[in-house]
Amino acid sequence: MFSALRKYLLIPRLIRLSSAAPKDPLTAWDQYWGRVRSTGASGDVLWDSGSAHELHGYLPTLEQLDPALPIVDVGCGNGSFTRLLAQHFPHALGLDYSANAVDRARHEAEGITTASFAVCDMTAPGAAQIVATALEAKGWEGDANVFIRGVLHVLDRSDRAALAANLLPVVGTRGGVFLAETNFPGTPVDYVSHLGATRNSIPAPLEGAIRGLPMPGRFGAAQRAKAFPTADWNLVEEGSASIETRPLSNPSSPDLIPGYYALLRAR
Ligand SMILES: C[S@@+](CC[C@H](N)C(=O)[O-])C[C@H]1O[C@@H](n2cnc3c(N)ncnc32)[C@H](O)[C@@H]1O
Repeated sequence: MFSALRKYLLIPRLIRLSSAAPKDPLTAWDQYWGRVRSTGASGDVLWDSGSAHELHGYLPTLEQLDPALPIVDVGCGNGSFTRLLAQHFPHALGLDYSANAVDRARHEAEGITTASFAVCDMTAPGAAQIVATALEAKGWEGDANVFIRGVLHVLDRSDRAALAANLLPVVGTRGGVFLAETNFPGTPVDYVSHLGATRNSIPAPLEGAIRGLPMPGRFGAAQRAKAFPTADWNLVEEGSASIETRPLSNPSSPDLIPGYYALLRAR
């Protein structure tokens, strides 16, 4: 029993680390991305495994999207998935509200002519127009597909609903939304313990996230039902997913966070 309780000795350290994070989420994210020095399998970013393995698991579901339409990667971060999506769709547009993330994503995608990036807060009024303008700049007009990974679980309930509503004019009648999110069932202490944090040590990419970012929540079927109401959206498919992190416990394989995926279309 004592070993099961030992993880709670982490709490003072977690409180100390997370109290330094800026309270405004955009400031927190932009400062976080400004501090990132390297990405991929040995980099600073907790959720960047540096591998296409997770995306490959989603391909059978993504194949239900219209492959002739471009895809918009909402909350793209450093653009790891945008670059992979550009191999499967005619164009991939990565959007993030952090200008530092978008700078980094552009730099990492240099030479990929079918990927582009723009700064956009996808919860804000007018976001759909920014998406349309960014797509038009690359010669695309009309409906688009949407990909979201690891973004909704960091938003509060009203921002999730605002983001989903902004996607309706983006997908129109032909596009669809694929989302994959962490859906960890325990407390924040359970979550960081799952990723290898102990009272004595915390893996550096995890510590960087705890220190700089708002505490994430979970996003599963219940949260999806609230954000994407049935009056507006048809659920095509949903299920469990494994969100792959940068390798933490073993340098040659990613750690896994229990997750949730869904495919939706506008009604
Ligand atoms: C956990 S990261 C995931 C990045 C990327 N999707 C991936 O899986 O590698 C979450 C990203 O969402 C972005 N984000 C958060 N809220 C946003 C919003 N309202 N509009 C656009 N991007 C947002 C953050 O800046 C951050 O880059």
